[in-house]
Amino acid sequence: MCGIVGYIGDKEALPVLIDGLKHLEYRGYDSAGVAILGEDLKIVKTRGRIKDLEAKLKNSNLKGKIGIGHTRWATHGAPNDENAHPHFSESKNIVIVHNGIIENYLELKKMLINEGHTFRSETDTEVIAYLIESFYDGDLLLAVKKAVNMLEGSFALGVMSKDEKDRFIAVRKDSPLVVGLGKGENFIASDIPALLSYTRNIIILENGDIAEIRKDKVNLFDLSLNPVKRDVQKITWSVDDAKKGGFKHYMLKEIFEEPQVIREAMRGRVKDGKIEVPELNFAKKFLNEINKIYFVACGTAYHAGVVGKYLAENFLRITAEAEVASEFRYRDPVIDKKTLVFVISQSGETADTLAALRLAKSKGAKTIGIVNVVGSSAAREVDSVVYINAGPEIAVASTKAYVAQVEVIALSILYLAKLSDKLTEKEERLFASAFEGLPEKAEKILKQSDSVAEFAATTKTIEETFYIGRNLDYALSLEGALKLKEISYVHAEGYPAGELKHGPLALVTPKSLVIAIDTYSPLREKTLSNIKEVKARGGKVLAVASEGYQKIEEVADKVFYVPKVADELSPVISVIPLQLLAYYVAESRGLDIDKPRNLAKSVTVE
Ligand code: M6R
Repeated sequence: MCGIVGYIGDKEALPVLIDGLKHLEYRGYDSAGVAILGEDLKIVKTRGRIKDLEAKLKNSNLKGKIGIGHTRWATHGAPNDENAHPHFSESKNIVIVHNGIIENYLELKKMLINEGHTFRSETDTEVIAYLIESFYDGDLLLAVKKAVNMLEGSFALGVMSKDEKDRFIAVRKDSPLVVGLGKGENFIASDIPALLSYTRNIIILENGDIAEIRKDKVNLFDLSLNPVKRDVQKITWSVDDAKKGGFKHYMLKEIFEEPQVIREAMRGRVKDGKIEVPELNFAKKFLNEINKIYFVACGTAYHAGVVGKYLAENFLRITAEAEVASEFRYRDPVIDKKTLVFVISQSGETADTLAALRLAKSKGAKTIGIVNVVGSSAAREVDSVVYINAGPEIAVASTKAYVAQVEVIALSILYLAKLSDKLTEKEERLFASAFEGLPEKAEKILKQSDSVAEFAATTKTIEETFYIGRNLDYALSLEGALKLKEISYVHAEGYPAGELKHGPLALVTPKSLVIAIDTYSPLREKTLSNIKEVKARGGKVLAVASEGYQKIEEVADKVFYVPKVADELSPVISVIPLQLLAYYVAESRGLDIDKPRNLAKSVTVE
């Protein structure tokens, strides 16, 4: 996720671009830049935030009435000046900004290198600029059309040519992009808030749209350059509402991004019935020697690791443990070069997780990072990093990162199983198709959000909650409980359902709410019996169960159903009702959901 913006009109472009980028900084903030076409085509860009770009621009005298800008959330290449956008083509006649991921960029880059071209950055974006230049013959629109038809993946693009001062080109495929219509001026942006100070007349581009943006006209085409028509929408939201996409809090917005996050996390990794995680191309001999796997992390990321433990033992048949990093780092764990250690971190900067990673490396373990922030310390220090590509997560309560972590862990384990001949082709095909079905299933769950909100409104007198489940549902119960406690301040604990009668059951009273997660089909009857034990003690039970398991309605007070999915992938989507429940309980209590008391987004100190 990155933010892009573009302007053409009678004003100086620079202040418009900077203002737009400030509104898009929530989409990425590791580097930023602008390109302006005045007497000459110039770029100014830097690592860091928009304020760092402004500082760099002070001495640049960048003037011109057409320009494009970018704020970056790195996916390919570390966050540094060179990888920052905009990117020039080789001759510096064409300039481009890009949001998204080009899946076939390595093939295209190789092709261009073989033709004698030399690249300056490590990004996938630069390949697009070079490709457009290779097709350019005095018509930017045509060159862009030819280039984008060769691209696989997701992209929103803004493209300018030094020789065409009266237009720039924008393209959208699987990454958001809107066009703003002004009087004698027109704009593009990744999101509406960037444009609301200038216009409220917006066209939301559709996938495959190419837009030719002139100062007094916008022409829209499909990928074959046939003209297309899109409605102009009149936006009535305030700027602040718009930043959160119309949602009341970032947490809710991030939960609603999950279907797209699920798509992005599998992009380039699930295709034609195959699962590929090329970052983990380990030799079969090495994989066969591994005798222990650890998943080490903190908080929500640790809970994703608990899912990893179950999956690793299931598919790889190797002993696996999930451990909280602050414990792991101080207990002298038994590790050697036959140990594989997964470290999981959204930020990649959590102090305990980094210390655990360094300990594991010092003892010779092979380390894999499941990380969101590209170029973060964890990403740089692990032997192999698999990015989750969830985009910036602003709310302190982690939601979309968990979904992507669990998904990428599942993909990684299945890929390692495949490399070590523990996954048949048939199983691979079945899982590939199960992954592809997840975004739609997540969307279906989100449609129940009103009913979750209604239920949450009935929980005002609840003083404590117990989340129970077995196997992967137990892993989910830990995460459900953490979500609730951190934003609603209601006491919540996750327990293995079978453990309830060994102690916690003594706490169950009519003032308790038990949330029973019962999606893991091999053990669902067992969990059902545990629900009955709770009901017999007067506890109120909310169940999260798979569609079709109607029987559970006979015992639970309320049931949220999740669509049927392979048991092993259930956590990716079954966490959604738990996240929504936590959100709406906190909301019904009027709390500061995005910034819960005593907590910080990234814990970089011990
Ligand atoms: O950035 P990390 O994933 O390493 O952060 C780990 C935890 O601090 C984080 O998941 C925390 O528990 C969240 N507030 C949970 O919502």
